[in-house]
Amino acid sequence: MELKIRNGRLEDVEACFILEGKTFPEDEAACKENIEIRLRKFAEGFIVGELDGKIAAHINSGSTNQEDITDEEFKGLIGHEDGGKNIVIFSVAVDPIHQKKGIAKMMMKEFIEVSKKMGKEKILLLCKENLMKMYERMGYKKIGISASTHGGAVWYEMEQTL
Ligand SMILES: CC(C)(COP(=O)(O)OP(=O)(O)OC[C@H]1O[C@@H](n2cnc3c(N)ncnc32)[C@H](O)[C@@H]1OP(=O)(O)O)[C@@H](O)C(=O)NCCC(=O)NCCS
Repeated sequence: MELKIRNGRLEDVEACFILEGKTFPEDEAACKENIEIRLRKFAEGFIVGELDGKIAAHINSGSTNQEDITDEEFKGLIGHEDGGKNIVIFSVAVDPIHQKKGIAKMMMKEFIEVSKKMGKEKILLLCKENLMKMYERMGYKKIGISASTHGGAVWYEMEQTL
C-alpha cells in the first residue's frame, strides 16, 4: 500500500465531499460549500491521501489567532487568517474500506510537518471521547470539554504545541 499525500486541489471537492459523507454522520459532515471554501482559501492546510489515484483520506483546517474554536462560521473559514498562529483541524477522515491500516497516523504526521513549515504554534482540534486516546498517541493533550454541542455530542478540545 503506497499512500501518496499531497495538498488538496479544487478538483478534489466532490471526492472529499463523498469521503465526509462516508465517515461522519449527516449533521457532522462538512457541506460541499465549506469543503470548496477550504480548498479555495486554504489549500496549504488541506491534505489528501491517495491510494491508486483515488482519495482515501483527508485532513482539512483553518488558521486563526483566536483560541476559541467552537465558532460555527469558522468552518466556512469566516475569520480565517492565513498567518494565524493556530491551525484548527476540522476533519480527519479515512475511507472506511481503508481504516485501521495506519493511514490516519501517516496523514497526521504529514499534517504536523506541514503546520510546522507554515510556522504555526499550535494545532487545535475537537474530538469525541472515544478518539482522545488516539490523538494523545499522536502528540495531542486534552484541554477540556468544549462549549461546542455540534451534532448534539460532547466534544473535547485537544491541542499540540509545535
Ligand atoms: C478516526 C479515523 C480517522 C482513524 O483512521 P485510521 O486510518 O483507521 O487510523 P489508524 O489506522 O492510523 O490508527 C491510528 C490509531 O488510532 C486507533 N484508532 C483508529 N480508529 C479508532 C477508533 N474508531 N476508535 C478508537 N481508536 C481508533 C488505532 O487503533 C491506532 O492506534 P495506535 O496508535 O495504537 O496504533 C477513521 O476511523 C475515521 O475516518 N473515522 C470517521 C471520522 C472521524 O471520526 N474522524 C475523527 C474526527 S475527530
